[in-house]
Formats: sequence, structure tokens, C-alpha cells
Amino acid sequence: MKDKRITLAWTGASGAPYGLRLLECLLAADYHVYLLISSAARVVLATEHGLKLPTGPDAAKAILVEHLQCDASQLSVCGKDDWFSPVASGSAAPKKMVICPCSAGTLASVAHGMSDNLIERAADVVMKERGQLLMVVRETPFSTLHLENMLKLSKMGVTIMPAAPGFYHQPESIDDLVDFMVARMLDHLGIEQGLVPRWGYDQRKK
Ligand SMILES: Cc1cc2nc3c(=O)[nH]c(=O)nc-3n(C[C@H](O)[C@H](O)[C@H](O)COP(=O)(O)O)c2cc1C
Repeated sequence: MKDKRITLAWTGASGAPYGLRLLECLLAADYHVYLLISSAARVVLATEHGLKLPTGPDAAKAILVEHLQCDASQLSVCGKDDWFSPVASGSAAPKKMVICPCSAGTLASVAHGMSDNLIERAADVVMKERGQLLMVVRETPFSTLHLENMLKLSKMGVTIMPAAPGFYHQPESIDDLVDFMVARMLDHLGIEQGLVPRWGYDQRKK
């Protein structure tokens, strides 16, 4: 039977709308989402989207359920030290995880196996269990250190997906740009999506 569980981590890189839209799409695709939110991600979410999430996982979940009008039973919000969460152990963790947006800080910690908070631990677990890890890294320009960390992870089978939307689908809004990135993530995860016309099929023409 298909495991319809996934771990999603929001960290403190710019790009909160990507993370929110991805969450919305995963829930719509009937996934159970384990959501991990760093302290910096909460600051970015408030800055970029005006959505203020409290530190407590239960209170944060209540706000997200209200905001997205989703089924509460599909969402688990885990605290940063919630070591008893399923995502903290290879015996129970979902085999798929996305870090979106992914900061240079979390990129470095994951590349070096720090496992110092639940996001880093969950990523470490997915890698050791040979699951699928997608990191939607956002920084510009990239330093040599950032590039080395990405190369190291890529060689270990992690998909590095820079938050760099294309323009060939002729976006008309920021939502179109966000959907471009989220569509590529869903494609990589093997989750059906119809957010953006596919290359060579029904391209928008002006
Ligand atoms: C509004 C805002 C935007 C930020 N944008 C980025 C970014 O695009 N990339 C990045 O690597 N860090 C960015 N930062 C800095 C990170 O949030 C910071 O390094 C933080 O320690 C990352 O912690 P985390 O990985 O635990 O979320 C931003 C911070 C703020 C407040």
C-alpha cells in the first residue's frame, strides 16, 4: 500500500509562499503531513505572508488549519525538540521529506549531519534510510561553501532544487511563479499535479 505520509520542513529562507502552497497541495493530494517549522521560518512567514504562528505546535496547527481550511487529522505540527515524533526515527518516519524553503544554515547542518533539532534529525533519518529528500535552497549569490554543501548532498542522492522559477510558462502573477516551483517539487515526489502546463503540450500562447 502507498505510504501517504510526508515530512515538510519550513526553514528561515525567503520563500514562505512556496512552503505554504506546497503544504496546501500535499493536503489536497490526501497526504498526512508532518510539519516542522524553525524559529526563523516563523519570522519569514510573518514578514512575507503576514501569517503569525505561535511557538507551540498545537496553537500553530490550529492557525494553519483555519488558514488553509483543511482537515485537522491530516496535519501534525511537531516541535523542534519533539524527539518522540515519528519523523525522529527510521522505524517510523515517512520515506519522503521536503525542506522548503531551505536556508543556507539548515543546508550546512544537514550536510554535516548535525541533527541538533528535529528538522536536521528528520533529514538525517531520511538520508540514512535511503528515502527521498528534496531541499529547496534559497540564497543569492551562493558562496563556495553553499555550493560545496549542495554538491555533497547531491552526491548522497538528495535533490537540490534552487528556488528559481522559470518564466517560459508566461506567468501572470506571483502565484504562477510559486506554482511553477511547487509543480516541479510535486513532480519529483511522484504526486500528480496540474498546476502548470507541461512543456511541449499546452503552452500558453499570447
Ligand atoms: C526575512 C528573512 C529572510 C531571510 N532570507 C534568507 C534566505 O533567503 N536564505 C538564507 O539562507 N537565509 C535567510 N535568512 C536568514 C536565516 O533565517 C537565518 O540564517 C536563520 O538562522 C536560519 O535558521 P533555520 O535554518 O534554522 O531556519 C532570512 C532571514 C529573514 C528574517
